[in-house]
Amino acid sequence: MPDYRVRDLDLAPEGRKLISWAEAHMPVLMRIRKRFAKERPLEGLRIGCCLHVTKETAVLVRTLMAGGAEVALCGSNPLSTNDAVAAALVEDDVHVFAWRGLSRDEYYWCIEQVIEHGPRLVHDDGADLIATLHERHKEFLGQVVCGFEETTTGVIRLKAMEREGVLAFPIIAVNEARTKRMFDNRYGTGQSVMDGLVRATNVLLAGKTVVVCGYGWCGRGIAMRARGMGAHVVVCEVDPVKALEAVMDGYQVMPLSEAARVGDIFITATGCEKVIRREHMELMKDGAILANAGHFNVEIWLPDLDELAVRKERVRPCVEAYVLPDGRRLYLLGEGRLVNLVCADGHPPDVMDMSFANQALCAEYAVRHEGELEPRVYLVPEEVDMAVARLKLEALGVRIDELTPEQEAYLASWRLGT
Ligand code: NAI
Repeated sequence: MPDYRVRDLDLAPEGRKLISWAEAHMPVLMRIRKRFAKERPLEGLRIGCCLHVTKETAVLVRTLMAGGAEVALCGSNPLSTNDAVAAALVEDDVHVFAWRGLSRDEYYWCIEQVIEHGPRLVHDDGADLIATLHERHKEFLGQVVCGFEETTTGVIRLKAMEREGVLAFPIIAVNEARTKRMFDNRYGTGQSVMDGLVRATNVLLAGKTVVVCGYGWCGRGIAMRARGMGAHVVVCEVDPVKALEAVMDGYQVMPLSEAARVGDIFITATGCEKVIRREHMELMKDGAILANAGHFNVEIWLPDLDELAVRKERVRPCVEAYVLPDGRRLYLLGEGRLVNLVCADGHPPDVMDMSFANQALCAEYAVRHEGELEPRVYLVPEEVDMAVARLKLEALGVRIDELTPEQEAYLASWRLGT
């Protein structure tokens, strides 16, 4: 029996069904698993994962194990764990430390359990595991071969560690793969944020004004899907190029101080803190809905909301009403944490297929190149990115053209002009 702490092992049969469903929708990872089972590229390696404990993560973990690894897993958010999946993974011999509704102390306790398993590879989502290793468990740093970071916010933190010269082992920024962020961040977040919003509130999006803060990969996807459901979309940005892109994509762009007055639904996806704060909340309409899609619960500034409200009450399982002194109500979804994971199932497996294929192939790459990488943040090797795209196309039954040798020579030459 592995070490574990989960909500309830009796939930395992339900978790197994969820994992099977995900496996049926993750053909790339399943192809990789088949090869891993034959070649065993991760034989005997201890791997520590700090990832949202979802059915899709289970498919990744089982793939790493098929490659020969022993895996310890904790959640990367206190509210995103699927307890049934966690239970099923314990049955699969994974050391799981995760349950939905962790306190902050419990959250870090779970991370420490994973660290105490002495991982040689670490898969992180938001960099909490890697930061904890560096801050509080330096004794384990020396044995880590490589780390892998799943999300934008984690990559930002790890680059800051690299800049400060404190990073102790190499990192591959999985988020930066084209086959990850162009799809997971855009289409995955776009769809699953709408899913979370609708499941939590059951509001009609047609005709509503949806304010999207941040027009990066996630924001683009959210804006696109909100418009697709009939909403008027307003974009708030700080980057002039992204703002211009939003204008030319046909959205209204304005500062949040203006958008606050007109929005019915606000969704943050910036990776920044205090994006929606008191001065904006004070201007919002009665009934405005606030949701966050960014990694941490700092984008909608909750201390301001708490201070402003005279009382708060839970009005639906994922919806908290904050009542302001003049009687207006602002509705916060999922405690300001990732709305798609807290109020829905997170990204669909079809898109996590590509993100996690990158995770699995990067793990294999890091082991093959052990000792060659420096303690820096690396991009995903082009060969991995391309392999994932090719495998996904193959799984979808889509064929594409190839350059002829003549075309290749043309594209490599500067001599042929007008
Ligand atoms: P990105 O870097 O592509 O986009 C972020 C955008 O927000 C940028 O255009 C930036 O200029 C803008 N921004 C930053 N501060 C702002 C502010 N104060 N006001 C308005 N705009 C601001 O990042 P990406 O990939 O879109 O990720 C955004 C966040 O979502 C990150 O925290 C990331 O980790 C998280 N994420 C969440 C997912 C989910 O499942 N909910 C999936 C993938 C990423």
